[in-house]
Amino acid sequence: MPSIPPIVTQPSHWLMGGAAYYAQRAPLKWIPTWAKEYGDIYTITSRLGSAHIVTNPELARQVLVEKYRHYLEKGRAYAVLRVLMGNGLVTSSGEFWRGQRKLTQPAFHRRRLDAIFSMMVDRARAYSDRLAETRDGIDVAPLFSQLTLEIISRAMFSTDVESDAAHVGSYIATLNEGALKTLRHPWRLLLPRKISTPFTRHEFAARTSLNRMVNLIIARRRAEGAEGHDDLLAMFLSACDEETGRGMTDLQLRDEVMTMFVAGHETTANAMCWLLHLLSKNPEITQQIQSEIDAAGDALDRGDLSAFSLTRRAIEESLRIYPTIWSVGRRCVQDDQLGDYEIKTGSNLIIPIFHFHWSEKWWDDPEKFDPDRFLPENRPGPEIYFPFGAGPRTCIGNQFAMQELVIMTVVFLKRFEVLPVPEFQIEPDPLITLRPKYGMNLKFRERT
Ligand code: HEM
Repeated sequence: MPSIPPIVTQPSHWLMGGAAYYAQRAPLKWIPTWAKEYGDIYTITSRLGSAHIVTNPELARQVLVEKYRHYLEKGRAYAVLRVLMGNGLVTSSGEFWRGQRKLTQPAFHRRRLDAIFSMMVDRARAYSDRLAETRDGIDVAPLFSQLTLEIISRAMFSTDVESDAAHVGSYIATLNEGALKTLRHPWRLLLPRKISTPFTRHEFAARTSLNRMVNLIIARRRAEGAEGHDDLLAMFLSACDEETGRGMTDLQLRDEVMTMFVAGHETTANAMCWLLHLLSKNPEITQQIQSEIDAAGDALDRGDLSAFSLTRRAIEESLRIYPTIWSVGRRCVQDDQLGDYEIKTGSNLIIPIFHFHWSEKWWDDPEKFDPDRFLPENRPGPEIYFPFGAGPRTCIGNQFAMQELVIMTVVFLKRFEVLPVPEFQIEPDPLITLRPKYGMNLKFRERT
């Protein structure tokens, strides 16, 4: 059996080695470059370990879908997320994950999404008022981060969290910043816990306060009983395993709540930034979407999204060009043969979603923003387009996110023209999510 080619680069970083160093600093550039040279699968190595990068659609699908049992665990990078989310759905694995997925799944059924539809519309409209006050351009990244955090908080806790909403935002922002620092400087993970800096103390305080707040809400709800509440927390509290009759412990509940907070807002906020950026650069498509929105009349107030098919396609295309989760990781738990290669138990694998969305091998003119790629007759296969992942660990919030994105787009485009700010630099920054490195400055003009 051939061995997986290692990437050898010069010069090399003392800790991160050569290839891993470049892959960490500029993955969007190096992963596709090496794929051209080294083919379906290759290895990058640093002193912290090694990872195989899988760049062939058939092999990636085997890892995520057909042979997922061989790759049940998440990769090493998820250690950073564990600090943020605890042992929730995103970070857990094996039987524990399976049980949690079963318990949380009902909270994302269609009927639940209908119940939060008007809340999403209402929040999006309230935030659109803020744009009306801006003249010379505004960085929409913090605005969408706040809006999506408010939406997930209300979906989770109804109104319980209202008075604490501002604090939740700042705690999560601090924890995110800590996770980003660790991603940029992975040696942070090796630091003894005793070493503290002003920032780690700040981080610790944010985590403690957030935990305390979430624990308090859970305790209050347990005492009151679920009646009278119609939100994700009520669903999580009442969920119980049919076979064992067991529900979630307070610790599991807290980790799932934190997971939904983190997984459910930054992703959607960034998706919205990238979509508006693409729309600002493609005024003709924006006008077509606005005609669709105008023709739909009061569909949004009737809770009907069926009239917004072009809007939806534009979002899908934007998630192709800027997949906000740009890669996923797995760890092999049972020796496997992947294509021609042998994968050993304990190996880390990285599936770079963006590479499948961008490669000229599978897409004509991949840099072009073209929502028609998602017309029913053109739809790409799931092996080259999977912004929400694939297999049993597909995003549990994908319908939630699509509903939220369509609503936000309709509300904002109904009211505003979106214009680029030419002197503003825009660059994707692939950290936990694919964020705009310098924010996303755009101009908004009320439509006449
Ligand atoms: C545009 C928005 C979003 C994108 C692009 C996105 C993308 C993804 C991807 C690619 C995964 C799979 C990760 C893996 O295989 O390792 C995932 C998992 C997950 N997402 Fe999302 N997501 C989005 C929004 C949301 C929202 C709104 C929520 C919650 C309300 C959410 C909750 C989760 C959870 C809990 C998981 C873990 C599922 C599991 O392993 O069982 N996501 N997401």
